[in-house]
Amino acid sequence: MAADWSTIESLPQTPLLDLFANDPNRLASLSLDVAGIHFDWSKTHLTREAVAAFAELAKASGLAAKRDALFGGEVVNVTEGRAVEHTAERGEGNPESVATARQSHARMRALIDAIEAEALGPIRHVLHIGIGGSALGPDLLVDALGRDSDRYDVAIVSNVDGVALEEVFKRFDPAATLLVVASKTFTTTETMLNATSALQWMTESGVEDPYGKVIALTANPEKAVEWGVDETRILPFAESVGGRYSLWSTIGFPAALGLGWDAFEELLEGAAEMDRHFRLTDLSQNAPALAAFADLYYTQVRHAETRAPFAYDERLRLLPSYLQQLEMESNGKGVTVDGQPVGRPTAAITWGGVGTDAQHAVFQLLHQGTHLVPVEFIAVIEPGDVLSDDHHRQLLLNAFAQGAALMKGKKVDDPARSYSGDRPSSTILLDTLDPRTLGALIAFYEHRVFVNGVLLGINSFDQFGVELGKEMAKAADQGGQEFDPSTEDLIKRAFGE
Ligand code: F6P
Repeated sequence: MAADWSTIESLPQTPLLDLFANDPNRLASLSLDVAGIHFDWSKTHLTREAVAAFAELAKASGLAAKRDALFGGEVVNVTEGRAVEHTAERGEGNPESVATARQSHARMRALIDAIEAEALGPIRHVLHIGIGGSALGPDLLVDALGRDSDRYDVAIVSNVDGVALEEVFKRFDPAATLLVVASKTFTTTETMLNATSALQWMTESGVEDPYGKVIALTANPEKAVEWGVDETRILPFAESVGGRYSLWSTIGFPAALGLGWDAFEELLEGAAEMDRHFRLTDLSQNAPALAAFADLYYTQVRHAETRAPFAYDERLRLLPSYLQQLEMESNGKGVTVDGQPVGRPTAAITWGGVGTDAQHAVFQLLHQGTHLVPVEFIAVIEPGDVLSDDHHRQLLLNAFAQGAALMKGKKVDDPARSYSGDRPSSTILLDTLDPRTLGALIAFYEHRVFVNGVLLGINSFDQFGVELGKEMAKAADQGGQEFDPSTEDLIKRAFGE
């Protein structure tokens, strides 16, 4: 089989119901179980032929060698001249990097032990300040797994809007607060401003030695020292760990502290299990690869511009926003690794929400709108609540019924009441929501992003697209820079300058 996009583009476009009717083994060949998670792509338009064609394309794109390079600690992020080593944080990768990650985890654990032993005074509240990858991952972990924890009250603040910080000041006792400043670069404007204001709040509230209660999580320890953090309370991590891939590193500190060290280790172990699955399993049975093939089928062949994950579990309500950064910052690119225009659509726009709420808000468009939106249902078999079984039963049955309805549709005489059907969805069903399974789930998404990037020929690991806006905000702040009439007018209206 020729290994190019035209092979995939020329595959027959058979309706979903016919695909099921034509192939009694469809469900078995397009679903699999790994690390306590069941994946089902049978309600997508992937077929065995399509998977084989994608596997050929993956081969031609050098996926196996690139995967080895990723795990081997080679310079995969070529535009920034860096290795990409988040997997080393969970023990999978270049032995030297794994050893370095172990050391930094040991340091983190020792500090957690010291905090638990009240070496920094009695701590009840943890104020974690960071943004983007330095906030979204920890926030997801604490929100998903820490609901029943009585260990520490953890707040994650990212927005530079003072309202976010003030809300926490109202709730937290400054004398019992640990201030955690999380920034890979330790230069991010929003984070440094928020950290300064939090420190000021502690000082003004009469906290003795507020700097003594500051922890820094960073790949730039010198900057943290410069800012005033004592070297013993800096938890460094490797430059080769990208921001949106960093929850496994010391950036995961609030989760490790809030959930306990054992939970954090289990998270890493779950991710490592997914790493091994991704590295060692044939592409036809490889969860991240199959998910990426479905993504690419819809973006490249069916011209879908978005994809929508819906968490049918309140505990995973932050998953869609976590995935937005992971997927869009990684693969929202316009040039290939060699700097040539990609010439085809790259990442879909990731949006989504929480079921069943979303059914009563946005599902109208999914069922009858003119956009093709591949939907992803994420649900958990074991309930997170102890109310009557009806709650969880309704939750799961709604998720499953939505997928069935999108596919089946309904034809009646009245066009306004008809459903076209043949709308794709995939389902990810976790046995239970525990650290191990969540670790595996997040690692699955990371590798899926990687496979998408390799087949598109792009670098998933830089993010230069965020720089221009930052530069212009700085220029606006410093003044003396002329902007367009609209921007000048807005600045004048807001500040009278
Ligand atoms: O502006 C984008 C970004 O660089 C993200 O990639 C990153 O996760 C976030 O900002 C925060 O960066 P830092 O951890 O260096 O403060």
